[in-house]
Amino acid sequence: MPVSLLLRFALPLLGVLALMAAALTPLVDSLVGRWFQHDLEIRSRLVFNSVEDSLPGLIHAPSRHEMKLLFDRIAEDERVLAIGWCGTTDRLETTSKAWPVALGCLPTKSGKALFKTEQVGRGGVLYAGFPVVTPAGDIGQLVILHDLSFIERRSFDARLYLWALLAVLGTAAAAVTVLTAQLTLRGWVQSVRHALNAPAGDRRFRGDSQIAPVISEVRQLLRDLDISRRTAVGIRVDWSPETLRRVLDNELPGVEVVVVSNREPYIHNRNDAGQIEVQRPASGLVTAFEPVMRACGGTWVAHGSGSADKETVDKHDRVAVPPDTPTYTLKRIWLSDDEQKGYYYGLANEGLWPLCHITFSRPVFRQPDWEQYVSVNRKFADVVAREVQRPDPVILVQDYHFALLPRLLRDRLPDATIVAFWHIPWPNPEVFGICPWREAIVDGLLGSSIVGFHTQLHCNNFIETADRFIECHIDREDASVAVGGHSAQVRAYPISIAWPPPPLEGLASVADCRANVFRRYNLPPDTVLGVGIERFDYTKGIPDRFLAVEIFFEKHPEWIGRFVFLQVAAPTRSGLTLYRDVQKESAELADRINARFGRNNYQPIILVIRHHEPEEVYEIFRAADLCIVSSLHDGMNLVAKEFVAARDDEQGVLILSTFTGASRELMEALIVNPFDARATADMIDKALRMPQDEQAERMRLMRELVRENNVFYWAGRMLLDTARIRKRVRIETAIAAVNGRRRGAL
Ligand code: G6P
Repeated sequence: MPVSLLLRFALPLLGVLALMAAALTPLVDSLVGRWFQHDLEIRSRLVFNSVEDSLPGLIHAPSRHEMKLLFDRIAEDERVLAIGWCGTTDRLETTSKAWPVALGCLPTKSGKALFKTEQVGRGGVLYAGFPVVTPAGDIGQLVILHDLSFIERRSFDARLYLWALLAVLGTAAAAVTVLTAQLTLRGWVQSVRHALNAPAGDRRFRGDSQIAPVISEVRQLLRDLDISRRTAVGIRVDWSPETLRRVLDNELPGVEVVVVSNREPYIHNRNDAGQIEVQRPASGLVTAFEPVMRACGGTWVAHGSGSADKETVDKHDRVAVPPDTPTYTLKRIWLSDDEQKGYYYGLANEGLWPLCHITFSRPVFRQPDWEQYVSVNRKFADVVAREVQRPDPVILVQDYHFALLPRLLRDRLPDATIVAFWHIPWPNPEVFGICPWREAIVDGLLGSSIVGFHTQLHCNNFIETADRFIECHIDREDASVAVGGHSAQVRAYPISIAWPPPPLEGLASVADCRANVFRRYNLPPDTVLGVGIERFDYTKGIPDRFLAVEIFFEKHPEWIGRFVFLQVAAPTRSGLTLYRDVQKESAELADRINARFGRNNYQPIILVIRHHEPEEVYEIFRAADLCIVSSLHDGMNLVAKEFVAARDDEQGVLILSTFTGASRELMEALIVNPFDARATADMIDKALRMPQDEQAERMRLMRELVRENNVFYWAGRMLLDTARIRKRVRIETAIAAVNGRRRGAL
């Protein structure tokens, strides 16, 4: 029971009871006193009546011996203190034993008994005097003395009973009061909680006169807090390419930056007409790093996979990008079909990808794939080592294609600062432990200065995996893992997108984008549009999403004919069975749903399988009422952030899988478990019914977060940590040099 409740309700009640006890005690004393005194008077009268007849004989007897004997016998009664005979002259003539010496006879009125309380020594006695009257007149007075001390004892007992009774009553009443208060409070808190979680304007709570004012006050407070938070953040730093450049200039002056990834940021392809086209790939990693490289220059080393890539590079396999306004160099590395098959399709995408994503697809580990993986990692290490101009560059190694690269680079460039970023989840040691090359992979990554993940959970999993499988020293306070004297920090950097989002620049208004998309897909103007846009990857939960749409139509048939779901999916890794299977399964599901619920010109699911450039993606996002990101597992998922970024009109609802890193940040999205198709179906219904002001409230908060935690902030934090490590290493090297000189001098 909470102490505060006890203090608030029980203590005052107990106080009142104590006051009552204090007020009642004298009353009880006087009642008990009077009651017992009356009782004693009756007893005295009884005693007197029993001896009255024998008294004349005893009085006129020659001696008082008989009378004394009688008196002593009567005085044996425990209530009778003593008994005595006063003669007509009010002289005490005969008494039983124990008659108080100080007490004499008191005059009585003729024929009337006298009852009087007298103080004898410390105690009180009741003096009961009975005149003995004969026809000849009064002949004396029989006096019976009663000890009154027992009345005090009884009074004390009565007081005790009263207090005990009040205490019991008080405790019971306090317990009932506190319990009632607690239950009432709990009920009230629950109502407030429900009301707060309910969408703004929910009718159920409007009528509740007790809760409604509190809710509106709390909402107001939250709004105020939000405003002050925004102000505080505004004062802090607005991360932009400019801030990033300042970080580089101030913290890493003259630094050489190299990014290494498998996927290149610009792919040159020759189209059917024989012309060269530039394509920007659908890769979260590229989306995030492109603006960073634009801001800081340097070299990006990647696999040249485009059909016209070789034609567009110089003799050193370099090309300046972006093609329109070159700011950095793209260095392409060529891979043979065998290398691609083993390193990219095999180990990376059939082994590590399903290993790290918990989607219950079995990873495949083949020895030849591993050998290709090792050799391609070496190839990249050699190229990077040759490409760098300085002995201490900052090398940013990207993703699961290059787990071995940090260690290989450390061997070749011991003074480099190497940051490895793992863009996909890192599972727990039990899961990772099934990989036959787990030790080499973990050790390879630990050649870095920093190993980065999107979430703290993935960092923890990685540290636990290192602890389980390799010989290392872990400093949990510093979150670092040391192997053979070299220490790597393990840090969470949630990746994001550029802000303001470049694809939004020059894009039409929301209304125009909507009109364009509706025209393109022949949608009637009153259509409610849901969208999903991503690579056609089995981790993205596209079939699960379609199943949810099917159940949604079953449970909410009123939406048939009105709701259309547009799924845009870029073909990816189509050489692999799992990818081909998920495409086939999704297309079949879409056909089935269209056959079940479609009619005339109405097609509930539109599946478009082709790559879309960022501007097209943003146009579709702006046209949508709802976006579903139902990944079964995802390191971050930038699509969710892009949808939010596209909606500068603060409208549209995001349904987001709880198994994405993004769900840790975009808490105002409607969070779903994509494996639970029925719950997702209900969430679609909820999203479509969400009032506009609630959509705006949620969207505003999410946009604020993406704006603040943008990709420049992500890269900036990583570079600041990099700068800190470089300073520390420099100091350690200087100290080691001084110590070396000192030893030499001795
Ligand atoms: C994920 C990975 C990236 C990869 C992208 C596209 O986002 O983390 O490293 O580039 O998928 O995959 P792809 O195999 O086409 O490069």
